[in-house]
Amino acid sequence: MRHIKFFDTTLRDGEQAPGFSMKTEEKITLALQLERLGVDIIEAGFPATSPGDFEAVQRVADVITKSSVAGLCRANKNDIQTAWDALKCAKKPRIHIVIATSDIHLQYKLKKTREEALKMATDAVKFAAGLCEDIEFSAEDAIRSDPDYLCQMVESAIDMGASTVNIPDTVGYTVPDEFENLIKYIIKKTPNINKATISVHCHNDLGLAVANSLAAIRAGASQVECTVNGIGERAGNAALEEIVMMLNVRKDIFSDISCAINTKELYRTSRLLSGITGIECQPNKAVVGKNAFSHESGIHQDGVLKNPFTYEIMTPDSVGFPCSQLVLGKHSGRHAFNTRIKDLGHDLDGATLEELFKEFKELADKKKDIFDEDLDALVYGRTSNEKDTFRLDYVCFSSVYHHVPTATVVLPYIDGIKITDASTGDGPVDAVFKAIERISCVQSTLHSYRINSVTAGKDAQGEVVIVVEFNNSGKNIMARGFSTDVLVASAIAYIDALNRYMAKEKFKSEK
Ligand code: KIV
Ligand code: ZN
Repeated sequence: MRHIKFFDTTLRDGEQAPGFSMKTEEKITLALQLERLGVDIIEAGFPATSPGDFEAVQRVADVITKSSVAGLCRANKNDIQTAWDALKCAKKPRIHIVIATSDIHLQYKLKKTREEALKMATDAVKFAAGLCEDIEFSAEDAIRSDPDYLCQMVESAIDMGASTVNIPDTVGYTVPDEFENLIKYIIKKTPNINKATISVHCHNDLGLAVANSLAAIRAGASQVECTVNGIGERAGNAALEEIVMMLNVRKDIFSDISCAINTKELYRTSRLLSGITGIECQPNKAVVGKNAFSHESGIHQDGVLKNPFTYEIMTPDSVGFPCSQLVLGKHSGRHAFNTRIKDLGHDLDGATLEELFKEFKELADKKKDIFDEDLDALVYGRTSNEKDTFRLDYVCFSSVYHHVPTATVVLPYIDGIKITDASTGDGPVDAVFKAIERISCVQSTLHSYRINSVTAGKDAQGEVVIVVEFNNSGKNIMARGFSTDVLVASAIAYIDALNRYMAKEKFKSEK
């Protein structure tokens, strides 16, 4: 059997996409779930890009014990040393070096000749190999590179110590036949290729990332780079769950392939990512979409009842799709609550569970039935953290037809000083944001505001998702708030965004 390694880059390429940025704690939670899922390598970030990325890579490297942890860097000593400083505490660290190899990137982006880039790459891999045993070399935009120059790069990188060579379709340009042929060509023309693992990294600009990755596996690639739910730059990366299930469902085609992924953790991992980022995947998303296993048409329903395999090529259970929607209510006890939270994939300590149980009881007083989505919202809505600068203590809105809306808020700073202020606004949401702005003295620009209903029903909780920029920093922050009162949810979301901004600023000033 040929073992295919799964290299997950949700925390690096995925997180790079607008709207998908994550807090360090969230990255750690996701990294632990990726390890539980069985990915071989977790790319935790790009340490030289920012102090926040450095810290996240270091903290992930610290907690992950079974998977390798990779950090991306460009082909220069500073990036490599920074990546190594963040990774060296990992049980299995991997330095991932990237340099472009296509003429268009060399000429316009790097402004280097092919010879100069080759020297940069070899120097970089040699330097990294002096620090770390596991080196991956990526030839960015490989698909649009001259194949012979690409082979020369790959051969030199392996000579200098790279144990994995990655062939990215950076711009999602290729088709399966062409990619399969390129991988075969590299295998044929690179004399030392058997000393390294061939990896592929496909983007989805034309919707072929998964198909291209599978073609590369057929051609001899033994590592695929992918992301949960296919998130990533532009149209995203190859979706991990789709590659995994293709290998599983079509064992007749991929009969010689094995991998370490526990497919029963796929749905949970997908939900965790959506929960953290607030971005749901589309209902018809392959493998993990809400509708992936629901049969609407009468003919299909009839067939499935007679034999599920008439319309189901894989079982919901095989990807961990929940079969039952257990409903909790105000009479449910701790045991049922804790069990359901665990079944939903949340790994929480006793104190947090206790705190959430109290919140669950309060929620159950306001709404009759508590669904899985409500429980997820309780977990993801946990914004209070001892490091937060602000907490919402009190909020009051006044909105009367033909009168100016107002909001009053009380925000205690964490050190205990309570500050009250009020503001008018175009509407009650605008008024509460302005009141918080007055207290915090942090100016904001709201880029987007969305309300979703967490479940069906008139008594459903509202989820408010906002994207806001503070102090014209150029950095958009996404945050969420949950409550049965959407105005309160708006205030909670704004304070969460503000705390995320304050944490970043504090981190920068401490560095
Ligand atoms: O798309 C790409 O080429 C990348 C590299 C860093 C592997 O993300
Ligand atoms: Zn990429």
